[in-house]
Amino acid sequence: MWWPKYGVGMLTATFLSCYGAATPAPTTETPSLEEIARRYTRRTAGGVHLPIVRQVAEASRRRGLTSAIGLGDFVDVVYNVLISVGGTTIPLALDTGTSDLWVVSDKCTQGCLSGQSAYPQASFNYSGADAKLFYGNSTTASGMIGKDTVSLAGLTLQDQYFIAVNQTNTKLGLTGSSGIFGLGFPVTSVVWFKLWRLSDYFSSPGKQGQQTSGNASSSATSIHRTWSVFGPLPTRFVTAAQLTLPMYTVTLQRDTKQVGGNVGMLSIGEMPSGVSEDSLTWVPIRAYPWLPPPPDSPDEVYPYNWEVLLDDVYLDGVKLPRSTLSSPFITLSALINSGNSILHGPPDVVRNIQSKLGINGRFPCSEPHTIAFSIGGKLFPVDPRDFIQQVIGNDVTTCTSVLGSNNPPSLTGPQYSWSLGIPFLKSVLAAFYYGNITHPSHDPPKMGFLSTVPQDAAAQLVSAVAAVKAGDNFPYISEVAPSGTFKSAGTASNGVPLATAAGHATQTGFS
Ligand SMILES: *[C@@H]1O[C@H](CO)[C@@H](O)[C@H](O)[C@H]1NC(C)=O
Ligand SMILES: *[C@@H]1O[C@H](CO)[C@@H](O)[C@H](O)[C@H]1NC(C)=O
Ligand SMILES: *[C@@H]1O[C@H](CO)[C@@H](O)[C@H](O)[C@H]1NC(C)=O
Ligand SMILES: *[C@@H]1O[C@H](CO)[C@@H](O)[C@H](O)[C@H]1NC(C)=O
Ligand SMILES: *[C@@H]1O[C@H](CO)[C@@H](O)[C@H](O)[C@H]1NC(C)=O
Repeated sequence: MWWPKYGVGMLTATFLSCYGAATPAPTTETPSLEEIARRYTRRTAGGVHLPIVRQVAEASRRRGLTSAIGLGDFVDVVYNVLISVGGTTIPLALDTGTSDLWVVSDKCTQGCLSGQSAYPQASFNYSGADAKLFYGNSTTASGMIGKDTVSLAGLTLQDQYFIAVNQTNTKLGLTGSSGIFGLGFPVTSVVWFKLWRLSDYFSSPGKQGQQTSGNASSSATSIHRTWSVFGPLPTRFVTAAQLTLPMYTVTLQRDTKQVGGNVGMLSIGEMPSGVSEDSLTWVPIRAYPWLPPPPDSPDEVYPYNWEVLLDDVYLDGVKLPRSTLSSPFITLSALINSGNSILHGPPDVVRNIQSKLGINGRFPCSEPHTIAFSIGGKLFPVDPRDFIQQVIGNDVTTCTSVLGSNNPPSLTGPQYSWSLGIPFLKSVLAAFYYGNITHPSHDPPKMGFLSTVPQDAAAQLVSAVAAVKAGDNFPYISEVAPSGTFKSAGTASNGVPLATAAGHATQTGFS
């Protein structure tokens, strides 16, 4: 059975809760989304560079929660990019763990917020198929599959299929998002899967000549060709928009403790300026033999997720014992997932880490701990400032780690046991290289990583904790506009652009 399962658990998007009342940002000086997109997007001959906007959720919904799992639960921070769908600029949460584009429709009747920017369904070309997306923890989004014109940084893509959502129980709207921009591979796209199975495109005379009628294996040879028609936006974009390279890179900025770090940027088609490809550690993407190869290239195996092998995991410089909960035949690997706001690992390894950190996994906030992932022979640490979270509001003396447990992988499904979310992506520049999507052996997919954790990160944590007054919380930043995003505060020694801590952003104190 080569066909992937679509359903609960496959799309894992997890966000943390946090504490206190984030004051809503003033609306008076806020430029329109169109204006923000125009002002901060950079387009070069070979690529586009989009600001990543960070926003915290409305706090009243989250007060008092210790932790919550699932995209629909009390979202903490979501990183959005602005994309024009049907002529309207819409903030979409960046999700490298899924492959579908969905946008809240102006026809949405359930679960959408008033005031949320919405896709005007008037220009929508409905395919006749509907879709329901399942995220972790029983949250869903459903609506109609259809197509419209989508543009990124002024580069236009006609006939992009996506889901116009009319019903959702995700609380994504609370973070200023109006949908999800899935940046995964075509084979895990629900939209593509539905259209491929339902379409009579390949049964028309002169085309494939075979009625698919839901029989996956009978029409296997047509699969790869349908990706250019029904496939996800990023893969169609990198092939159609004639960008320099079939890839994108992501850097995320720190939103709390010492706000700043990297500039939040999604670069598509080329590396961010000043960063050389050679400075990254490149590793292949795990491939699965589940999809039939095309007749002209019978040895192809395809990537399913942005999944890379891990050599080992270290806590404070000490290599951690491997999990014993999954088959020893499964090679250790991690999903690199911007749709996950924490770090998920195997339950036994996470328990071991928690016990080393302190009773119930609690430890003084000012005590720097470093979890590091060895990838391609090189260690990639998570900045100690991004490894901690407050246990209770108005108290920065006791912290826990941003760790959660994943179900152990089985031999028949995706084999990653770690899911490295936002804390990891704040600590590296991550490059996602698709290569040749239909014929991966001709230009294999790969990922590149460049650590951006400063040498003195541990000392910076200590000073960040010391800077918080008794009875107060770590500062948070919420930017309605990505002000300052591209007014770089200089570059780190490795060339990665740094964010300004202040800019015109709204500093939101808690309490
Ligand atoms: C909608 O798409 C179909 C299939 O591509 C096309 O035949 C039809 O003309 C489109 N309708 C409109 C109103 O653009
Ligand atoms: C999500 O999962 C947690 C823990 O299993 C549970 O307490 C919570 O009620 C769930 N939320 C939803 C919306 O199902
Ligand atoms: C959403 O759209 C689907 C597909 O057209 C429809 O079946 C469903 O009833 C709609 N739901 C709501 C809440 O409007
Ligand atoms: C699908 O097609 C294959 C090849 O034509 C055939 O062997 C198989 O029985 C079909 N399966 C179903 C469920 O129709
Ligand atoms: C992928 O490789 C195949 C086989 O060499 C080639 O025909 C196709 O043009 C390549 N695709 C791209 C986008 O380069």
